[in-house]
Amino acid sequence: MTIRWAAESIWEQVAPLLPGFTVEILPQIDSTNSELMRRARAGQCEPTLLVAERQTAGRGRLGRDWRSDGQGGLSSLTFSLGLVLQPQDWSGLSLAVGLAVAQSLHPALQLKWPNDIWYQDCKLAGILIETTNVEALRYCVIGIGINLLAQDSTGLRTPAAWLQELVADADGPGTLQALVLPLVQAVQAFETQGFAPLRAAYQARDLLLGREVHCTDGSQGVASGVDAGGALLVHTGRGMQRISSAEVSVRALPPLPPAQPT
Ligand code: BTN
Repeated sequence: MTIRWAAESIWEQVAPLLPGFTVEILPQIDSTNSELMRRARAGQCEPTLLVAERQTAGRGRLGRDWRSDGQGGLSSLTFSLGLVLQPQDWSGLSLAVGLAVAQSLHPALQLKWPNDIWYQDCKLAGILIETTNVEALRYCVIGIGINLLAQDSTGLRTPAAWLQELVADADGPGTLQALVLPLVQAVQAFETQGFAPLRAAYQARDLLLGREVHCTDGSQGVASGVDAGGALLVHTGRGMQRISSAEVSVRALPPLPPAQPT
């Protein structure tokens, strides 16, 4: 089945913001992140949106795989945006990207620190950000995978959510078109202003806020938002801890009590 991507329309929206921008859609590749990183290491640093209809070796954070196991059509939208970025401070970039994605997709989506997008305690999308130095510049590859159709959660650490649960007619082309311009705008705003101006908007979608969390660095306590640099704040028995890199697990919310007659 041929998928009709709105590549030209995306290019027209984004090229004024990113001179030299190109949009490339591939039927298959190992990983859109790997490809843009290979190109950057070979000196190709143009701003590029690379979309793959299928990844054979999609990668997640911490060396994990990114699987797309849905049945039928395009089960997940997988793409990477590569561009030169020169923020003063890189901390909070993944939160800014997650926020832009969630805001573009649906009001009910939440953010699980540091860079997952969740719906009802299930993971809907993941973000993998990688950088490489090219001469004096830093090329940044922002990879995003979004489940569109029902996914098989067997063997996953976190059960999957998918966009069609929220938007019945969500598809790859429409989702990509809704996302790319806001994503580029958010990344450019981050480059000049950092994460701090986004703290309140992040907090409004913070899945962890007020919940008991366990972090791989050993700390555990109640998640209490993020600081101006995007570090997670956890209220522990030893006071407030600032966590800038760790995996965080959260206890499932107890089921809601049955509604009482009024
Ligand atoms: C995670 O949740 O651990 C991050 C998942 C990131 C997946 C996307 S799909 C497009 C891009 N290419 C990859 O190989 N990974 C990212």
